[in-house]
Amino acid sequence: MPLLPASITVEVADNEFNHNVGLLRAGTNFMEPSFAEHEFRTEPDRPPSFILAFHYLTYAIKTPTSKSFPFLLRSARYRTLLDSISGEARDGEILGIIGASGSGKSTLIDALADRISKPSLGKGGIFLNGEPLESKIQKTISAYVLQDDLLFPMLTVEETLTFAAEFRLPRWLSASKKRDRVQALINQLGLRAAASTIIGDEGHRGVSGGERRRVSIGTDIIHDPILLFLDEPTSGLDSTSAFRVMKVLQMIASSGSVVVTSIHQPSARIMGLLDRLLILSQGRTVFFGSPNRLADFFADFGRPMSQGENKAEFALDVVRELEEGPGGADKLVQFFRLRAQGSIAGLSEARLTGRISSSTSTLEAAITASISRGKLFAAAMLDASPSSTTAKLAQFTNPFYVELSILTRRSFTNTWRMPELFFMRLGTILVTGGIFATFFFRLDLSPRGVQERFGFFALAMSTIYYTCTDSLPVFLQELYIFFRETAYNSYRRSSFVLSNSLVALPSFFILSLAFASATFTGVGLANGSSGFIFYFLIILASFWAGSGFVSFLSAVVSQLMLGYFAVVAMLGYFLLFSGFFINRDRIPDYWIWFHYLSLVKYSYEGVLQNEFGEGGKCFVRGVQIFDTTPLGEMTEKVKEGVLKAAGRALGEKISPETCLMTGMDVLEQNGVTQLGKWWCLAVIVAWGFLFRVLFYLALMVRGRNKRT
Ligand SMILES: Nc1ncnc2c1ncn2[C@@H]1O[C@H](COP(=O)(O)OP(=O)(O)OP(=O)(O)O)[C@@H](O)[C@H]1O
Ligand SMILES: [Mg+2]
Repeated sequence: MPLLPASITVEVADNEFNHNVGLLRAGTNFMEPSFAEHEFRTEPDRPPSFILAFHYLTYAIKTPTSKSFPFLLRSARYRTLLDSISGEARDGEILGIIGASGSGKSTLIDALADRISKPSLGKGGIFLNGEPLESKIQKTISAYVLQDDLLFPMLTVEETLTFAAEFRLPRWLSASKKRDRVQALINQLGLRAAASTIIGDEGHRGVSGGERRRVSIGTDIIHDPILLFLDEPTSGLDSTSAFRVMKVLQMIASSGSVVVTSIHQPSARIMGLLDRLLILSQGRTVFFGSPNRLADFFADFGRPMSQGENKAEFALDVVRELEEGPGGADKLVQFFRLRAQGSIAGLSEARLTGRISSSTSTLEAAITASISRGKLFAAAMLDASPSSTTAKLAQFTNPFYVELSILTRRSFTNTWRMPELFFMRLGTILVTGGIFATFFFRLDLSPRGVQERFGFFALAMSTIYYTCTDSLPVFLQELYIFFRETAYNSYRRSSFVLSNSLVALPSFFILSLAFASATFTGVGLANGSSGFIFYFLIILASFWAGSGFVSFLSAVVSQLMLGYFAVVAMLGYFLLFSGFFINRDRIPDYWIWFHYLSLVKYSYEGVLQNEFGEGGKCFVRGVQIFDTTPLGEMTEKVKEGVLKAAGRALGEKISPETCLMTGMDVLEQNGVTQLGKWWCLAVIVAWGFLFRVLFYLALMVRGRNKRT
């Protein structure tokens, strides 16, 4: 398992920066009251530190031409979602991408944010300061704000940001500095009034939609990334909230970041905040440049804009009108390409070939300088001493154990505020245990008692596994947060898997104890306290293995209903093959492998061994042997006679008190002899570990899930 990531090293080219001063400066920046615009405007004369250029980005996907059979034989057609898109964004500025729905905005942001694999982007490329932007560097220096706000519902705004800070700010930064950063961010995002409100969900009233969006942005920018990508950060917000979000973006840009965002229907005020604008129509560029040039552009095209009109709405209307007409927006696309030939294409070409202006430094120097100015807290594993000449861009901010502790604490905090879930499970377990205890009340030592015990154990063990299914929705919710957080290296997968397992252990302990206590004496199980302890351990191990199984499935199946279906079906099969319905020695050879895969088998056999394997109890004594046969109906006298005759035939003296079947005989008769009880326990625990390894592998495969 790659617990220790490789790190890349950036040599500090110029040693004149004082790291501590840099941090303080950044710190003070963020302490400014919200929306103090003048503080954050880009100095017009300063050469840009970062130029993100994208050139001829082309992306096509295969679409089957027809759904009719035999579709496999037909050649696939390609649909172009992005067609030679070029443009540029700089630090200190916001690049806005607009276009009708389906024009390819999200696809373009995905491409820029490295969520589409590079080879799929055709001959196009993405360059930062003239150098191709590698995934590894991009993961560390950039952030991508998804459209959905995936946050822990029961944490407050402040806690959410504090946990994000713990993940992403380096360990050498003192706790008070981290607190300052969180407080500054709360001010910057305009969240002061909502700081101690919980995020909330369907069941719990929390912060407003606009606030939640700003928290979501806050968690992604806590480490002050150099590149920030956002997909429609203002959708679903009223115009004031939307404007506020855009002002926040402007401030982030002004602190030295490159901000690229798609916007749905920007208002005139929002248009005023954009420094560059890219308009898409069906995957093609119809305009790229300063929004101020939009009016001239359309006037030259022959569609002058009337005074006071919303520029964005006007442009989108013209584009839509052209798209609906014959020839689509081809004319406008051609017009733009002709006009842009000298400017944008030339510019991109220059970047592509490395001929960038001499005032912009190389990528390495620019990142180093930026870190020294206090940006990119997370990546800057700077030696605290200012004389250090080496800054390390580490892949992860914290070591494994710190991540583990933060994740575990966060998960505990969130779960503790929602005790309903735990009490519901405890209630279910107690009610089911109570029903079992009264239904299988004080099972006696007789052939019928043996059968009833088998029934009880099979039901009880499958109940434990089925109880684990409850956690599926919680796992899925956490999984989405996990994917969002690890997309840009907040923490390692392994920490997540481990914390996910640890967090549940205390509750399993209580649930197991409750179920074992509710049923052990009620049903009248054997072997006193040592029997009870083993019975409890088997239940605990079953919870451990069952939850491992459910978490593994949740990583494989991403939909809740499908997940339930898969878990319930699999547990049903496990029970079927456990050896309860058909003994192991009578399972057909071609199915025996599944018997060994069945989780329920090991729990079931473990408790049977515990019950029957020790204590030398007798389960069939004398005439009891006839209990489950047609002879059972006869009178005692007749039965005793038959027994005596049988004894004579066998040459043994059999009295009504003779033990004919001990616990061991019961086990042998039912084919429960392969593993001792401790082995059963060990195998269940091992299954639990195995499922967690599989869970890790499944996350690894899904984590790479980029568009191709
Ligand atoms: N996997 C896919 N298969 C087929 N078509 C796809 C696929 N992914 C995206 N598309 C198509 O690509 C086009 C661009 O999608 P994209 O999500 O980038 O649009 P958008 O501009 O972000 O739209 P919106 O404003 O509605 O979010 C759409 O027409 C969409 O149907
Ligand atoms: Mg979209």
